[in-house]
Amino acid sequence: MEVAASAGGGGAKTPDEIIAKHCNACHGSGLLGAPKIGDTAAWKERADHQGGLDGILAKAITGLNAMPPKGTCADCSDDDLMGAIKKMSGL
Ligand code: HEC
Repeated sequence: MEVAASAGGGGAKTPDEIIAKHCNACHGSGLLGAPKIGDTAAWKERADHQGGLDGILAKAITGLNAMPPKGTCADCSDDDLMGAIKKMSGL
């Protein structure tokens, strides 16, 4: 019963949907130096440098070098992005 999964607005997005649609392109393979999905050590090192998950969330919102603002998910809320970051990092 998958209804309008790609409607692209309104309804709540799950971390998996956000990652599949927006983050996986770079974070799946480590493209452009992106920390890879599941590479908790790489994410932890970043989080430690930025003062925790909130710190890297702030960078994800503004963008950082080759990392585009909000990871291209323009209609993601901060909570949406945090969910995706937690899922990708395992932190
Ligand atoms: C166009 C490729 C690309 C996409 C798409 C992308 N990222 Fe990134 N991301 C990067 C790169 C490259 C870095 C490393 C940037 C650096 O340190 O120079 C990064 C770093 C990050 C960081 C760490 C920031 C820090 O302070 O070290 C977070 C968090 C992050 N991405 C979240 C996301 C999320 C969430 C999504 C999906 C909504 C996403 N990214 C989509 C390329 C991408």
